[in-house]
Amino acid sequence: MIHPIVAPSILSADFTDISSALRSIERSGSDWVHLDVMDGHFVPPITFGTKMVQDIRAQTKLPLDVHLMIADPERQVQAFADAGADWITLHAEACIHGHRALQTIRESGKRAGLSIVPSTPLSSIAELLPFVDLVLIMTVNPGYGGQKLLPFCLEKIKRLKALRSSMKLDFLISADGGICADTIAEVAEADPDIIVIGSAFFSAKDKGSLVGEMKSAFTRGAVC
Ligand code: DX5
Ligand code: ZN
Repeated sequence: MIHPIVAPSILSADFTDISSALRSIERSGSDWVHLDVMDGHFVPPITFGTKMVQDIRAQTKLPLDVHLMIADPERQVQAFADAGADWITLHAEACIHGHRALQTIRESGKRAGLSIVPSTPLSSIAELLPFVDLVLIMTVNPGYGGQKLLPFCLEKIKRLKALRSSMKLDFLISADGGICADTIAEVAEADPDIIVIGSAFFSAKDKGSLVGEMKSAFTRGAVC
C-alpha cells in the first residue's frame, strides 16, 4: 500500500445515512473507514458500538479502522473483532492491562493499535511498541470532530518515527484530529503513515479532489 493511507471518519457523517457516507468514502479514493467509538465515559460523547461496526462491515470491503475511545477496552475488544473490525485501536490511558488487550486483538486475527491523547508522553507506551501494529497519535483532544490541530502533537509523531527506526519495528503511525487543507502541509512534514479526516472530508464538496490533494502533499512511497 502507498502512503499516506487516508481514513475518513464517519463521526462527521449523517448517522441516518451511513450507506451514502460509505459510498462517498469509496468513490473518493480513500483507503480505510475510520470508526470512532465513544462511550460517554472515557470521552463525554456517546457514538455507537458493535452493531454499527457489524452493519458497516456488511456494506463495504474497505478496511475498518476502529478507534475505541472507551473505558476498560479490554472488556470489549473481542466483541469488536467479532463484529468485523480489521484494525482495533485502544487508548493507553483507558487500559490497565494494555498488553493483554493487544494480545487478544492479535489472537483474533486482527491488527492491534494503541493510541495516546495529546497530554500523554510517548514514554508511557514504549514497553508496548513491540506488540502493536499501529500507533494512533491524537492531534486534538479526543471526543469531537472539527477541532483545531495541536502542532505539538506533530512533534510526537516525528519522535515516534525515530523511535520506531531505532527499535527496528514496523508498526504504522496514524495522525487523528484537525487535519484539513490548512494543516495538511505541516502534517505531511511530520509524515505519518495514516491520516484520519473527519469534518474536512464530509464538508468537502469534491471529496475526490480533497483526498487527492491530501495524498499529493506527502512524498509518496510504500508504507512502513
Ligand atoms: C476525535 C476522533 C477523530 C475525529 C476527527 O476524537 O478520534 O477521528 O473524527 O475529526 P476531525 O478531522 O474533524 O478533527
Ligand atoms: Zn478517531
